[in-house]
Amino acid sequence: MTKSWKGLILAGGTGSRLYPLTHAVNKHLLPVFDKPMIYYPLTTLMLGGIRDFVIVSSPEALPQIKALLGDGERWGLTFTYVAQDKPGGIAEGFRVAANELAGHNVALILGDNIFYGDGLSKRIQEAAKQGAGATIFGYEVADPSSFGVVELAADGTALSLEEKPKKPKSKWAVPGIYFYDQDVVDVAWNLKPSRRGELEITDVNRVYLERGALHVKTIGRGVAWLDGGTHADLFEAGQFIKVVEERTGLKVACPEEIAFRMGFIDHDGLAELVDDSPKTEYQKYLKDLLNRSR
Ligand code: G1P
Repeated sequence: MTKSWKGLILAGGTGSRLYPLTHAVNKHLLPVFDKPMIYYPLTTLMLGGIRDFVIVSSPEALPQIKALLGDGERWGLTFTYVAQDKPGGIAEGFRVAANELAGHNVALILGDNIFYGDGLSKRIQEAAKQGAGATIFGYEVADPSSFGVVELAADGTALSLEEKPKKPKSKWAVPGIYFYDQDVVDVAWNLKPSRRGELEITDVNRVYLERGALHVKTIGRGVAWLDGGTHADLFEAGQFIKVVEERTGLKVACPEEIAFRMGFIDHDGLAELVDDSPKTEYQKYLKDLLNRSR
């Protein structure tokens, strides 16, 4: 039986590389041009058809994130919030959210990973159809040494996985979006911390690789993958979104629009969002969308 999907968004961490921006504000609430960073990973999973989300962050940041996102109902979604007392690595997210994830397939996305491009939704929807095992992605980057790296055989199967290797065996970085069957929580409970003292997502993926249950899909150059890890990354990601939005007149990662286009909310639901929104350019965008769809 195919289990339903839960989206797991990791929005914790200290954001120390973005200090002092992150001194009082959680990194995932910082602006990427015209929206908070967390809208981008959230909408990426929404485009995959996922509606039920668990959001993990620090006890200090959770109230801020809740103030932004609420219970999700207005977007046809469900948000459950789970506190992570101390950052302990990406895979620790499965442990702290174990109760909420039990019995579900899990689509994990890192709260600072931004994806944009044609064909992306299809790739994600395909991954979400995957029943057993895990699906990860490979994305070619100039310098893979600061990422998880997957080495691929000629037929596209994974040969090895390494976390931030000094001498990467390939150019294929593993972006922060992963699809797992319901075993993933058990896999995470059985992990040992790495040398840097973290529960590594690459070690989770390696367990699936050793089981012969790891699928790798490559994402081509038509898709942009960015993150907001450093001041320069954040600035460039904002510039990228600005250029795309101004050229097309369309918003990237607008949860109201995606909820409507995906059928999570109907016409009346969108009309309510327009009514509840302050009179801004953002409201005008939603109003135009509503009027065009009448
Ligand atoms: C994490 C993962 C790494 C992955 C990257 C994607 O690294 O450990 O495998 O490639 O996210 O953004 P971090 O950015 O937390 O150092």
